[in-house]
Amino acid sequence: MTQKIRTKAVAVVGAQWGDEGKGKVVDYLASSFDYTARYAGGHNAGHTVIFNGHRYVLQLIPSGILREGKKAVIGPGTVVDPVALVGELENLKKSGIDVRGRLFLSNRAHLIFPYHREMDKAAETARGSAKIGTTSRGIGPAYEDKMARRGIRVCDLLDEGRLREKLQRVLAEKNAISSAAYGHPLETEGLLEQYLEIAEHIRDLVVDTTIVLNKALDNGESVLFEGAQGTMLDIDHGTYPYVTSSNATSGGASPGLGIAPTRMTGVVGVTKAYTTRVGSGPFPTEMVDLDAHEVRKRGNEFGAVTGRPRRCGWLDLVVLRYAKMLSGIDSLVVTKLDVFDAQPEIQVCTAYRYKGRRLTEMPPDVETLAQIEPEYETLPGWQKPTPGVREVKDLPTPARDYLNFISDEVQTEIGMVSTGPDREATIVPRGLTLASWL
Ligand code: GDP
Ligand code: IMO
Ligand code: MG
Repeated sequence: MTQKIRTKAVAVVGAQWGDEGKGKVVDYLASSFDYTARYAGGHNAGHTVIFNGHRYVLQLIPSGILREGKKAVIGPGTVVDPVALVGELENLKKSGIDVRGRLFLSNRAHLIFPYHREMDKAAETARGSAKIGTTSRGIGPAYEDKMARRGIRVCDLLDEGRLREKLQRVLAEKNAISSAAYGHPLETEGLLEQYLEIAEHIRDLVVDTTIVLNKALDNGESVLFEGAQGTMLDIDHGTYPYVTSSNATSGGASPGLGIAPTRMTGVVGVTKAYTTRVGSGPFPTEMVDLDAHEVRKRGNEFGAVTGRPRRCGWLDLVVLRYAKMLSGIDSLVVTKLDVFDAQPEIQVCTAYRYKGRRLTEMPPDVETLAQIEPEYETLPGWQKPTPGVREVKDLPTPARDYLNFISDEVQTEIGMVSTGPDREATIVPRGLTLASWL
C-alpha cells in the first residue's frame, strides 16, 4: 500500500460577495506554492494584482501565473470562453509574461459560446426589476447547459467532426427556444469556423489537469486553489437567487479540480475591512449614501471587470462566521484596512434582528434577509495612515483593536493584513498558521 503524502494544498476563498482582494492574496502566497489552480467560475471574476508599478487584472487565468516559473491550472469545474481566454493570453504576452509550458487548461472544462452571452442578457432583461445584475459573460447559461448535460467541452473543441456535430445538435435546440421565447433565432453564422480557429490558439494548453494535479500532489508538490466570487455568491449557500452559478466555497475545489477533499490541508478566507457587493440582492449592512460614497472613493470600489460601482457596507460578522463554517477557514486575511484610515468611527454588525428576535445564523431566503436589521457595535477609528506599516505591533492601537475584535468574534486567527493594493503593502504576523504556509 502506498502512503499518501500530505503536501500543502491550500484554498483561498472569498468570505463575502466577491472582490475581497483574492487576487492580491493569491499572488502573495503563490511564490510559496508550485501550482495555482482555479476550480470554479469563469471570466466573471476579476482578480487584481499590483507590483513593480504594474497592474494586472486576471479573469480566468490563475493569478499565480504572474510568479516566474510557477505553474497554473484552469480546472474542469470552470467555464471557459475561449475567445476571452485568448484575449487574456495576449494581454499577458504584451506584459512580457510567458505562460508556455506552465499554464494547463482542463480538457473537461465546459465552453462558453456567444449564445450563452445572448441568453444571459435576454434572461436579465426578462427579469426586469428582479434582475440579478450578472456580469453578462454567459456564465449562468453555460453552467445550465452543463447541468442539463448538453454542454460542449474543451475536449470537443479540439476535434472538428465532434464539435460540428455537437454544435449542430445544440444550436437546433437553442434556436427553437430562442424563437419561441424571444421571437428570433440566435446569431450563429460563422460560429463553428470561429471556434475551430480559436481552438488552435489554445490546443497546446489542453491536458488532463486532474492527472497533472494529483500526480503533483503525489510527488510532494504544493497546490494553491484560487477561489473566485465569494461565499455569499455560492450557488448552494449564498443569497439565492442573487448568486453566481457555481460553488465558490472551498468544497468546490474538490469536484472543480478532481482532487479528493481529504487532500486539502488548509483554507484561507479573504475579507475586506468592510463589505462590498456588485449586482442586486439583499445587503444587510449597506451604508447610507454619504458613507458609501466616501468608502467607494477611498477604496476605488469599481468593478475590475465591468467597471460598475460596487455597493459598500459595514463589516458583517454573521457573514464571516457563516463563511468560516462553510469553507472551514483556518486563517482570515483582512484587506483594505487603509480605506478606514480616515474613518472617525467604524460600525461592525455582530448579529441580525428579525421581527424582534435576535438572529445569529444566516437565513436561507432573501425575503427574510431583506427585512433584517443589523445590530451594530461602534468602534473608534485610528485616523492615521497604515500603508507602509510592516508589523502588526506598529499599527495604531484602534486598528489592532479592530482586528482583534474581528478575530475574537469569528474565532479565527488573522493571518494577513493588507494596507494597500501593492504586493508590498502586506503584513504577515509570525507564528500563525498562514505564516507556516509560506
Ligand atoms: P478579487 O476579485 O477578490 O481578486 O478582488 P478585486 O481585484 O476584484 O478587487 C479588489 C480591489 O482592491 C483591487 O482593485 C485591488 O487592487 C484592491 N486592493 C486589494 N487589497 C487592497 C488593500 O489592502 N488596500 C487597498 N486600498 N486596495 C486593495
Ligand atoms: P471575483 O472573483 C463580485 C456577481 C455578479 C452578479 C452575480 C451573478 O472577482 O470576486 P454571474 O455573471 O456570475 O452570473 O453574476 O455574481 N459576481 C461577482 N461579484 N466578484 C466576482 O468575482 C463576481 N462574479 C460574479 O455581479 O451579482
Ligand atoms: Mg474581483
